[in-house]
Amino acid sequence: MTKQELYAQFGPKLLTALPGPKARAAVEADTRYISPSYTRSYPLVAKSGKGVRITDVDGNEFLDFAAGIAVTSTGHCHPEVVAAIQKQAAELIHISGTDFYDEHLTDLAAKLSAIAPMKGPHKVFYGNSGAEAVECALKLARYHTKRQQIIAFYGAFHGRTMGALSLTGSKPQQKRRFAPLVPGVTHIQYPYVYRGCQGTAAEQEEWALNCARYIEDRLFKTTLPPEEVAAIFVEPIQGEGGYVVAPTNFMRELRRICDKHGILLVADEVQSGAGRTGKWWAIEHTGVEPDIVTSAKGIASGMPLGICIAKASIMDWIPGSHASTFGGNPVSIASALATIDVLEREAIANAAKVGAQILARLEGWRKTHPLVGDVRGRGLMIGLELVKDKATREPVTALRNKVEELAFEHGLMILGCGETTIRLCPPLVVKEEEATVALDILEDVLSEVEKELVGAEELVVKA
Ligand SMILES: Cc1ncc(COP(=O)(O)O)c(C=O)c1O
Repeated sequence: MTKQELYAQFGPKLLTALPGPKARAAVEADTRYISPSYTRSYPLVAKSGKGVRITDVDGNEFLDFAAGIAVTSTGHCHPEVVAAIQKQAAELIHISGTDFYDEHLTDLAAKLSAIAPMKGPHKVFYGNSGAEAVECALKLARYHTKRQQIIAFYGAFHGRTMGALSLTGSKPQQKRRFAPLVPGVTHIQYPYVYRGCQGTAAEQEEWALNCARYIEDRLFKTTLPPEEVAAIFVEPIQGEGGYVVAPTNFMRELRRICDKHGILLVADEVQSGAGRTGKWWAIEHTGVEPDIVTSAKGIASGMPLGICIAKASIMDWIPGSHASTFGGNPVSIASALATIDVLEREAIANAAKVGAQILARLEGWRKTHPLVGDVRGRGLMIGLELVKDKATREPVTALRNKVEELAFEHGLMILGCGETTIRLCPPLVVKEEEATVALDILEDVLSEVEKELVGAEELVVKA
């Protein structure tokens, strides 16, 4: 297939200058009515979606490598997911699992128990969002252990409700003027190797291990009595923090510390779970079993559902301790069951395959693109960290944002994460050809930005 044929079949189709007239009107209405706390990178106004494509209100077609912030795992409006939602909506929309029994709750729980990243038996709590899944894990950890203290990590994002926000350690604006938050949370360094250690591979391993050892060597010997710590909350791959992969030795050390001191290990898999990394859960790549796992985003292809799965012996709270009116809504659960079928049948394997192809191509960019400092990820959770200078690793946040905007203008939807990273998190059903076109666009955009900078002598051109 020639490049032209590839683009004709799999590429974006832009009909208007961006934003088009209807999109401009929608952005104006948004400015008038919608909370200004939202963070929009570019004026994309979606009308419909199919697979990896989004059509905007003016009829422009985009390749979506953001997937609604890593949510539409089976692609936009997968026919099996749509059919399951429609069937369920016609049958029963709401009953409330809090006060009534409902087979949907147990059907999905049985599935989740079969795929959970720790040995069973398990028990499951349903909420409506990632933050609610985290709130559940936080309250459960305190309830079960009768301990108050929590350890979380700098760079972590666990959500924006007050409990989840207290665990979040990603950006100051997320916390500004919201204090006092939930007390008892200690943040420590996450093993963000690219930003923490420039040494040999062995030195990097040692540095990552020391991030975990700090808990016993410093915290437990100075400020934090271990018998008061209920849980360690960790994202096996930090999402909003920059798509940063925690090394296996670090995760194993966390597990050892938890086992020794009776602390619960909570894996927040809201972004990294549901097959995104080429396995059901990102923590499975490390061989470490958590005690509690949180899930949301991709597990129901875009219908609101937050899930907290715990070992049954841990979820021991009594009636009235925790609940949610809408949590485990039958329509969301129908969507999750259909999603799990598609993920199991094809999409997880596809994420592993296409993800490896994307990573292999991006690896080459370290040499050919002066802006590319680091490339990392698993499956289709891929980060591309941009820097001004490969030696100093100076962040280029404004340029990263510009790359996002230019990509949009070329028909590719991507999002940033962390201070200076671009994330690629397309639907897990993305085709190789779609990935090729998306990377071609991204590479053109990077080259364009680099060319301008070299002209302005702002970039240190040492690939
Ligand atoms: C790891 C992680 N946990 C929790 C959340 C919060 O999820 P929600 O926005 O659905 O509340 C997010 C959202 O980005 C996340 O990435």
